[in-house]
Amino acid sequence: MDLLELREIAQKTQEQQAKIRIRCCNAAGCLSSQGQEVKDSLETAIAEAGLQGQVEVCGVGCMKFCGRGPLVAVDPQGSLYELVTPEQVPAIIERLQNPQALPENVPQIGDLNHPFFSGQLPIVLENSGQIDPDSIDEYIAVSGYEQLHRSLYELSPEGVIAEITKSGLRGRGGGGYPTGLKWATVAKMPGKQKYVICNADEGDPGAFMDRSVLESDPHRVLEGMAIAARAVGANHGFIYVRAEYPLAIKRLQKAIQQAKKYGLMGSQIFESPFDFKIDIRVGAGAFVCGEETALIASIEGKRGNPKPRPPYPAQAGLWGCPTLINNVETYANIVPIIRNGGDWYASIGTAKSKGTKVFALTGKVENAGLVEVPMGTTVRQVVEVMGGGVPDGGKVKAVQTGGPSGGCIPADKLDTPIEYDTLLALGTMMGSGGMIVMDEHTNMVDVAQFYMDFCQSESCGKCVPCRAGTVQLHGLLTRLLEHQATAEDLQKLEALCHMVKETSLCGLGQSAPNPVLSTLRYFRQEYESLLQTR
Ligand SMILES: Cc1cc2nc3c(=O)[nH]c(=O)nc-3n(C[C@H](O)[C@H](O)[C@H](O)COP(=O)(O)O)c2cc1C
Ligand code: SF4
Ligand code: FES
Repeated sequence: MDLLELREIAQKTQEQQAKIRIRCCNAAGCLSSQGQEVKDSLETAIAEAGLQGQVEVCGVGCMKFCGRGPLVAVDPQGSLYELVTPEQVPAIIERLQNPQALPENVPQIGDLNHPFFSGQLPIVLENSGQIDPDSIDEYIAVSGYEQLHRSLYELSPEGVIAEITKSGLRGRGGGGYPTGLKWATVAKMPGKQKYVICNADEGDPGAFMDRSVLESDPHRVLEGMAIAARAVGANHGFIYVRAEYPLAIKRLQKAIQQAKKYGLMGSQIFESPFDFKIDIRVGAGAFVCGEETALIASIEGKRGNPKPRPPYPAQAGLWGCPTLINNVETYANIVPIIRNGGDWYASIGTAKSKGTKVFALTGKVENAGLVEVPMGTTVRQVVEVMGGGVPDGGKVKAVQTGGPSGGCIPADKLDTPIEYDTLLALGTMMGSGGMIVMDEHTNMVDVAQFYMDFCQSESCGKCVPCRAGTVQLHGLLTRLLEHQATAEDLQKLEALCHMVKETSLCGLGQSAPNPVLSTLRYFRQEYESLLQTR
């Protein structure tokens, strides 16, 4: 494959696309509510109406408004249909022929200018819901693999790293470490054998951003990994993806096969000296295996226990070799940064948090789904304007970010801009992108207990503060909820939180007390109201 051939595929694919294109969401959310049946019915209805050739049905990735799925969009008509059932499909076809018609059984008509969409800035998700994730040709038709070619023929490895550094991109897996710096560290390490890893373990309850990216645009992640591998000097990559994501795994496997077939993966990519292959490793569901050292141990076939750092994976990672490990969304940002330049990316967002962030907006919110917003957007903008607030006129009590490592933002702090540092200052964190809205009926001590229950059962048990501390913390929260706790127990709870944070070996234990500390900070009266009265 050379650049000319790549562009020929792009042109041919664009030419072959029918004039009218019906996009039907075929990502996990919509598939769980008859998305496949809707697509099948659309194909049948088009055949019955004799419209083949003029109209095509394209199964696409997540169209973002998951709470209203299955979603169907018609291009170029600009129609969006929500909560579509197979029985309503004939009405969609009827409106195709007569847009003014409003047949009886027409599905709910959506609005592509709805604040849920208009507040978004799709960079990571630019292809999500637009192209067929099972087709490498469709990816190539939207300039796919051009940036890999550029990074092989027009940019030096140092040049690629310079753009990533300039962009200000920080890791989207939770920690927010500067991506350019990490790449530069791996690139500088001596040694012939280096690895790149994509962390797709996504274990936070309520989070589904990485799953969606993989299901909707798998080639984007593969291309990002290949650019990274060439920049740091690696020739072998692994994607560590949880077993609970079968569709993402299937689409990744298919994408890897397709890329190999086109000479975009394997030996002498784009007829250059660069070799790069990717293997998938399926995780068995332990949350701690998302922690980078545990993940590496798991790929090595060992028990997924974290190790003390340093050495960091960049210095001595997989099988002792320098290893670049980044999150799915981090890799999905690479292609647009290389395409448009680091300065372009750095012009989006705020002084210290650049670019966009994808959130999985869930909980007590009218418009649930995937949102990608520029850094600096306020929490209120996401939850109340785009998300539509709490259904039935209810009020937001708190917004949880950062999953079991994060905390709750109370309603009076909703005007906080979304940035790494501002969220940390509030006692929560950006995390990987889970955003759960809680209404006035939520008991915040219950919330703290839920996350502690999660951490207690997911603790790997290697170090005492986390293994025993999370059990003790859970026990104290239970005593509180059963009205058995004293004021002394509450003091013990707080002191133990600090002890577990400061003495645990890895991020799981170090952050497990955060949901308790943050709810204590903003909702202390709820804890106190539960104390034993006698
Ligand atoms: C308990 C625990 C779970 C984690 N789970 C994930 C995860 O599911 N996905 C992820 O990308 N990073 C996860 N991380 C962070 C990784 O250790 C690592 O920092 C990240 O993959 C680096 O990629 P980034 O720099 O692109 O964010 C987790 C960390 C901890 C402590
Ligand atoms: S902090 Fe918890 S999860 Fe991490 S090593 Fe210690 S016991 Fe294991
Ligand atoms: S899964 Fe269909 S819109 Fe998100």
